[in-house]
Amino acid sequence: MNINRTYNNLSDKVVEELIKIVGVEQVFSDDEKLEAYGQDETEDFIFKPAVVVRSENAEQVAAIMKLANQHHIPVTPRGAGTGLSGGALPVCGGILLSMEKFKNILQIDTQNLQATVESGVINYIFQEEVKKHGLFYPPDPASWGSCSLGGNVAHSSGGPKAVKYGTTRDYVLNIEMVTPTGEIIWTGANTLKYSTGYNLTQLMVGSEGTLGIITKIVFKLLPLPKHDLLMLVPFSSAEKACEAVGATFRAGITPSAMEFMERDAIDWSMKYAGEVNFTVKPEWQALLLIEVDGNEMDLLYKDCETISAIMAEHGCDEILFADTADQKQSLWKIRRKVGEAVKSNSVYKEEDTVVPRASLPVLLKGVKEIGKRYGFKSVCYGHAGDGNLHVNIIKGDLSDEVWERELPKGITEIFELCKSLGGTISGEHGIGLVQKGYLPIVFPEYQMELMRQIKRVFDPAMILNPGKIVF
Ligand code: MLT
Ligand code: ZN
Repeated sequence: MNINRTYNNLSDKVVEELIKIVGVEQVFSDDEKLEAYGQDETEDFIFKPAVVVRSENAEQVAAIMKLANQHHIPVTPRGAGTGLSGGALPVCGGILLSMEKFKNILQIDTQNLQATVESGVINYIFQEEVKKHGLFYPPDPASWGSCSLGGNVAHSSGGPKAVKYGTTRDYVLNIEMVTPTGEIIWTGANTLKYSTGYNLTQLMVGSEGTLGIITKIVFKLLPLPKHDLLMLVPFSSAEKACEAVGATFRAGITPSAMEFMERDAIDWSMKYAGEVNFTVKPEWQALLLIEVDGNEMDLLYKDCETISAIMAEHGCDEILFADTADQKQSLWKIRRKVGEAVKSNSVYKEEDTVVPRASLPVLLKGVKEIGKRYGFKSVCYGHAGDGNLHVNIIKGDLSDEVWERELPKGITEIFELCKSLGGTISGEHGIGLVQKGYLPIVFPEYQMELMRQIKRVFDPAMILNPGKIVF
């Protein structure tokens, strides 16, 4: 990947200054660390930084940014390194700024149903902690066991619960950030309403570490729903499964998760996840994993009856209800492991397509047709209730030459299809490095330039996370 930016090399003098800021034990330049921090979960990319620096407070981050501006050194912030669009890859070398030490949950405010956290807190740890207070933080990406809340904010991450509860964006009230020039600011207020000038909080959400470095976040929380029910619905037609999704919402039901997996996704994930034990009939082509939640069991059973009737109208096979917590966990494990399973199976390229929900069957059909034309197979799965289909294009036996020549053409067609359906090219994984070449499919040049101007205002020296989104 060609990034046309010139920066200064990291001198011994700058390394000495970094050591003064964070301490010698938090600055690394050994090959093993450079390699480990030079990759995230995006395909097989590695870009080694010149140095890895672990900071632990906003003041240190601010001092690092001032130093980097002074010497014109690029800085790439990194949360937990679970990103899928290459947002944390230090493509221009320089300083890799790890936020992993920002680990504290600072306050759970049970009076206001809010929490203040440092940006390196792991999503699942936070969820479990607020649960102890009867509270609920819904955004639950597949990588919730290892992804950081700062990274989630940087991508407005979603997950299965987004269909009822929204994505990370809907829970961020206020952010403490360090600007690219080294100022520490709070972007807004800890309020549920905000009409006080440009909303910098929401601008930061989804900015993928290009406009500032998130150090603290104030999240809105909800009361924890008391019950949930989980059903697994098999279909012999993947398109019919997708059609049943829209019909469910039109019947007035909003499930707390409505996930889709096509046959290969199920088989690969079961093999990868191991020990998950249930029989997949040969004729099943797709599964919907549907969860409803709330406080009244009677209402949840009624919702499940309505959903079952809709599924039957769309030709489903026998529905499996998860009876025990263990069964629920196994089914969720199959779903959550699909991404990793695909990764372990073949060279692949993952797309994060999203369209208005009712267009999902058209998108799925289109993806398969485009694949046939270009000679590639795809494994599709994702958040059907959101119209968010993860399309994993599989290299399989294709030669390197065909793969490199045909893949961009196929992806372009898939994205054009998304756009024509009123959708876009990423629902929750971001643009980062790997999708930036496709951004002009959805934005005209004027809009691209507006985004570039925003970047310039925040980061005049263009040193923060270069090579991502629009630069
Ligand atoms: C998922 O829904 O499984 C995640 O977005 C992760 C992935 O697609 O790899
Ligand atoms: Zn997803």
